[in-house]
Amino acid sequence: MPGTCVIGLQWGDEAKGKIVDLLTERHDIVVRYQGGANAGHTVVTGGQTYKLSLIPSGILRPAVQCVITGGVVVNPPTLLAEIDDLTNRGVPVAENLMISDRSHVIFPWHIVQDRLTEGCASNGEAIGTTMRGIGPCYSDKVGRAHAVRLGDLYRPGLAERLTRIVEHKNALLAALAGNQGFAPFSAEQVHREYAHYAERLRPYVADTTTFLLDALEAGRNVLFEGAQGALLDVDHGTYPYVTSSNSSGVGITAGAGVPGRYLHKTIGVVKAYCTRVGGGPFPTEQNNEIGSHLRQRGNEYGTVTRRPRRCGWFDAVAARYAARVSGVDTLAVMLLDVLSELDEVKICTAYELNGRRLTSFPSHVDDLRQAVPIYETLPGWCQNISHARHLDELPKNALRYLARISEAVGRPVEIVSVGADRQQTILAQDAPRGHAVAQPTG
Ligand code: IMP
Repeated sequence: MPGTCVIGLQWGDEAKGKIVDLLTERHDIVVRYQGGANAGHTVVTGGQTYKLSLIPSGILRPAVQCVITGGVVVNPPTLLAEIDDLTNRGVPVAENLMISDRSHVIFPWHIVQDRLTEGCASNGEAIGTTMRGIGPCYSDKVGRAHAVRLGDLYRPGLAERLTRIVEHKNALLAALAGNQGFAPFSAEQVHREYAHYAERLRPYVADTTTFLLDALEAGRNVLFEGAQGALLDVDHGTYPYVTSSNSSGVGITAGAGVPGRYLHKTIGVVKAYCTRVGGGPFPTEQNNEIGSHLRQRGNEYGTVTRRPRRCGWFDAVAARYAARVSGVDTLAVMLLDVLSELDEVKICTAYELNGRRLTSFPSHVDDLRQAVPIYETLPGWCQNISHARHLDELPKNALRYLARISEAVGRPVEIVSVGADRQQTILAQDAPRGHAVAQPTG
């Protein structure tokens, strides 16, 4: 059973790119199966920093085939810019990248629509989207009448189809823009531009569903790289403050066309604390000097948008829920070094809601907004841990913190990260026998 999955268990930005990069060595194929250029993966290797948004992080290993499946929404100029940048830096993209003809195409009207519909949540609080046109493109996909898949760009009748779509979009956007106004799109111009993108992308476009099924049936090792985090899942996250795809583990089967029987292991990635970008409830948020400290020490600014991230304590109620929904087997705890200067650290292990103690994650945002976190406070470890390479090189209090996270989430910790570089990683299976961190006791 050759499929491994890497899923973020918070609101995205859990440093999944580093874990994918580490695991890629043992895999033949790395797959992106949902989301789009709203995601941002940073991989630091050999002193070089690579920022990727659509292309799987596996592209940095020349022996690995990278696949963008039909569940992804693709903005052709963004993808081409990423391909060009990597190629110019000597990364072999042409041989190693495949994009599904079923993936949906983001057009400039999706981006305008994203801007014009922001602030649409029922209570008027903005969702705070990345403005990459992700939501409007997925809406069109589900609505069908005004959608274009990558494979459609190579079929006859595209010009007529774009004429119909542009007519509809110009009317829609004019209504949404009202007094603000907007510059209408020209179908001919969009057709010319996208025909050019299509030609450049032609060598990469394929039926990735069949390719992946063949690969899995042949026993090849496939790594599924989640984007965003489970709490942003459109069905199981903090709706409506979510992204428009299934960013929890449940998204893999639909997004890649791969049945669950091939997914043999799922690693849930969490930060040692919590962050969130954009709107929506965040019970453990610290709007104080702790939050500022975490932001500064963790460089908590969006990879894609550079927006400052909201920061707070680790929320074990949310992470446990996300781990269960995503079928997580083990945890990777990232950015542990960011907590190193704090005298004490906190973990939320339950909420109080309407005078009652709650250990499950509320299904409605109104309840989550009112939930008051109940914390356990643990002693900090005021020392630099960025050089640790084995669990026994970590201070006792850091190990205690990891063990408590493991216990509260209900999954063993397999990987601990203490810095951005590939080398700054601790594999918990290297731990001395019976070490507390490797197994939850609860
Ligand atoms: P959208 O995906 O651009 O529609 O944004 C919807 C929500 O998801 C907003 O709160 C975004 O900040 C959040 N979001 C989308 N992608 C990411 C990501 O890669 N990391 C963190 N938050 C994200």
